Amino acid sequence: MDPNIVLTGFMGTGKTTVGRLLARRLERPFVDMDAEIERRTGLSIPELFARRGETAFRHAEAAVAAELGQRHGLVIATGGGTLLAAQNRRALGANGIVVELRATAEAIVERLRGEIEQRPLLAGPDPLARLRELYARRRAAYDLLPHRVETTGRSPDDVVEELLALVPHAKPTPTAPPEVMWVRHPGGTYPILIGFDATADLGAWMRERELLGTVAIISDSHVAPLHAASVQADLAAAGLEARVYEVPAGEGSKTPEMALWLHGRLLEDGFDRTSTVLALGGGVVGDLAGFVAATYMRGIPFVQMPTSLLAMVDASVGGKVGVDHPRAKNLIGAFKQPALVVADTRFLRTLPERERRCGLAEVVKHGLIGAPHLLAWLESGAWAWPALIREAIAVKKAIVEEDPFERGRRAVLNLGHTFAHALEVVSDYALPHGEAVAVGLVLAARLAARVGLADEALAARVEALLRRLGLPVHYPADPEAVWQAMQGDKKKVRGRLRLVLPRAVGDVIVTDGVPAEDVRAVLATLRPGSPG
Ligand SMILES: NC(=O)c1ccc[n+]([C@@H]2O[C@H](COP(=O)([O-])OP(=O)(O)OC[C@H]3O[C@@H](n4cnc5c(N)ncnc54)[C@H](O)[C@@H]3O)[C@@H](O)[C@H]2O)c1
Ligand SMILES: [Zn+2]
Repeated sequence: MDPNIVLTGFMGTGKTTVGRLLARRLERPFVDMDAEIERRTGLSIPELFARRGETAFRHAEAAVAAELGQRHGLVIATGGGTLLAAQNRRALGANGIVVELRATAEAIVERLRGEIEQRPLLAGPDPLARLRELYARRRAAYDLLPHRVETTGRSPDDVVEELLALVPHAKPTPTAPPEVMWVRHPGGTYPILIGFDATADLGAWMRERELLGTVAIISDSHVAPLHAASVQADLAAAGLEARVYEVPAGEGSKTPEMALWLHGRLLEDGFDRTSTVLALGGGVVGDLAGFVAATYMRGIPFVQMPTSLLAMVDASVGGKVGVDHPRAKNLIGAFKQPALVVADTRFLRTLPERERRCGLAEVVKHGLIGAPHLLAWLESGAWAWPALIREAIAVKKAIVEEDPFERGRRAVLNLGHTFAHALEVVSDYALPHGEAVAVGLVLAARLAARVGLADEALAARVEALLRRLGLPVHYPADPEAVWQAMQGDKKKVRGRLRLVLPRAVGDVIVTDGVPAEDVRAVLATLRPGSPG
């Protein structure tokens, strides 16, 4: 059976005109989704927006997309925002060749001249500025679609010719449903969804978890412009209202002041105990939004959508949330278990390379703590995201289930971190956390060898793997300064330095019996070029 041909793209790119022509040439039925929604609801699109709001429109649109995705041999023109929602991408891509019709913002303005006032999404005092903003926000979602045809300066017939050439070679783009992993905690359990476009299941799982109130999407200034519209579209497709709150990217936003500002915004916007806080971002956003969820009205439901690798494999699991005090990181915090975690590996496509490597350092840490196969995968280079993330999370899950409030075993998660925190302090936080962890893991393995806990070969193996992943294994800091900084670590117990050391892959211990001179001797190998 012939797959559908699904034409999408921003308003004014000619989806309907081109779709009609293409359908005629191929002698296929043509479906215009907006017209179909109007037929079903008995309202024009502007009326639907005005009377029932955008969420109702998106909900209706998702129902139409789900149905069309079951049919074959159609030419479909979608709405401009349809493919923002992962659930619509999944429905229409499973059995359809999805093509974006693209045009420059200038060409779109030109084409929409005269009708710009009638577009509900452009309503407001400055429709042109609104159009450019909307266009920019949707760009990231369109960029991820498998095919595109440029329409600027071309006639519809010309565009149809290019489509006719493209279609015979193109294939549908089905996505597998996400894997689901359940985490136990003292108050219950929560699912973690892991997979490419796992966001497609967000709405259904929100309903399953009975999270039916308005959603506050908290994100940062890097992630929100790339992904917030898409998450919002998926919530709307499930009939859930959401608003986006953006904080500046970076650790500087993890403060009590920022939490207080967010509390204020939620209050102004009428959020109550039935509402949900959804963290969309890296560990900074997860910790901050989680703290807000834990404290607003004594706690409201919380959903984690980690977008950095570090947040997926580490920060989003285990329930630790909090903000920094000017004098100590993570000092003000709580345990707040999420109701749902969605690790959508699609987000990793926009993650900067350096951040991705930093996340890999934590994956190596998890492998050393409890998953030898993780290290083997990384060493072989033959691994895929969902599986790597699932196995890395599995290590953390096992530990937090055993020790939910960090009273004992959970300390092993600090492998490499006593060294890492000291390096971060000495570098004045110029050294990113993940890179500091990489160096810290090497130092921990060397120390284990020195005190006779582990083989020399273990340190060599860890070092070789981290190098392979593009992570540092040395750092040009004064060893004595690092030693001093280690003395201030809050993990120190009754005056003795508490360290986590590996005995073998999958076997780490917590000890406070390591003599100072051994730690110092290992720190002497810290600098590049030092005997290691
Ligand atoms: N709660 C816990 O158990 C736990 C565990 C480990 C770390 N943490 C905390 O996590 C934080 C570090 O997390 P992080 O490394 O994710 O830092 P982060 O949140 O600052 O993210 C790193 C950078 O990547 C950007 N980014 C994230 N996802 C992106 C995407 N998909 N596309 C483009 N850019 C993206 C962010 O905007 C930021 O600039 C620290 O504050 C740390 O204390 C918490
Ligand atoms: Zn860490």
